[in-house]
Amino acid sequence: AATAAFVRAIPKAELHVHIEGTIEPEHAFALAERNAVTLPWATAEALKDAYRFDDLQSFLDVYYQVTAVLTTVADFADIVTAYFDRAAAQGVRHVELFFDPQSHTGRGVPMSVVMDGLWSAVSRSVETHGLTSSLILCFLRDLGAEAAAETLREAEPYLDRIVGVGLDSAEAGHPPAAFHDVFAAAALFGLRRVAHAGEEGPPAYVVEALDALGAERIDHGVRALEDPALVARLAEERVPLTVCPLSNVRLRGVDSIAQHPLGRMLDAGLLVSVNSDDPAYFGGYVGDNMIALHDDPRYDLATLRVLAENSFRSAFLDDDTRTALV
Ligand code: ADE
Ligand code: ZN
Repeated sequence: AATAAFVRAIPKAELHVHIEGTIEPEHAFALAERNAVTLPWATAEALKDAYRFDDLQSFLDVYYQVTAVLTTVADFADIVTAYFDRAAAQGVRHVELFFDPQSHTGRGVPMSVVMDGLWSAVSRSVETHGLTSSLILCFLRDLGAEAAAETLREAEPYLDRIVGVGLDSAEAGHPPAAFHDVFAAAALFGLRRVAHAGEEGPPAYVVEALDALGAERIDHGVRALEDPALVARLAEERVPLTVCPLSNVRLRGVDSIAQHPLGRMLDAGLLVSVNSDDPAYFGGYVGDNMIALHDDPRYDLATLRVLAENSFRSAFLDDDTRTALV
């Protein structure tokens, strides 16, 4: 409890959270009922029982099925509000929220519904929750580059509502370089660029994300440690890495928090922060991730504070806003 209070009191920015990964099972069932959507599980309990994953793909299979409960503007607004409630309660001051438009437009939900719903909550987060927030549109890498380009075209009317683009979904076999053109187009629109790399994929995908996509931040990046030259580059260039400890354990990328490479990443001088990824699925929000780390003596309170400071250094914030938040 003392740790929870300390963690809550440290200002934190969350830079790696998928809004579709924040739908708690009870909320999923409430939305399913409201929209007359049938989920392939009988109850919220049965859905929770399905949260035993072997790897990223086995998680994504559940995650995309649950997103089907989202159909209206109110649904998208409500899940953001529910996430902000939990994040604010854990001391989060700034959020850069990922969303996966293709997981909705692919089911016939118009881009306008996604954007209007998310934006109605994001645009009011300072008033409602005392936190700043922004949106990062992610392309689903397993659907390919042409679908990503089409998604960016559909998003063009809403570019003033997003701060950047990202790349997520099934990583193995989907190297970043295929998305060179759509990331270049996004850059020309003035958007920031991030990419999931080195979660399950090899260190070479991290290099590609930097060189081919111009990624300014790497999501996960834990496998970068397998390549010493890459580690040296990431340290030298102060490339932010958004690490998600509970996610990596639950998706079996690492065996336990004790085995997690975060400590070695800190020792190597990398700009790492702690994030929740898909908190409804992986056992907790960003504060919960920090509390889980603290069970390991490597992550003492001073180290947790450094990790939280790093989250603001890694954020897409102007200096005045950053200074006001920490
Ligand atoms: N989409 C949601 N969570 C993800 C993760 N951890 N990796 C890749 N894509 C995702
Ligand atoms: Zn992620």
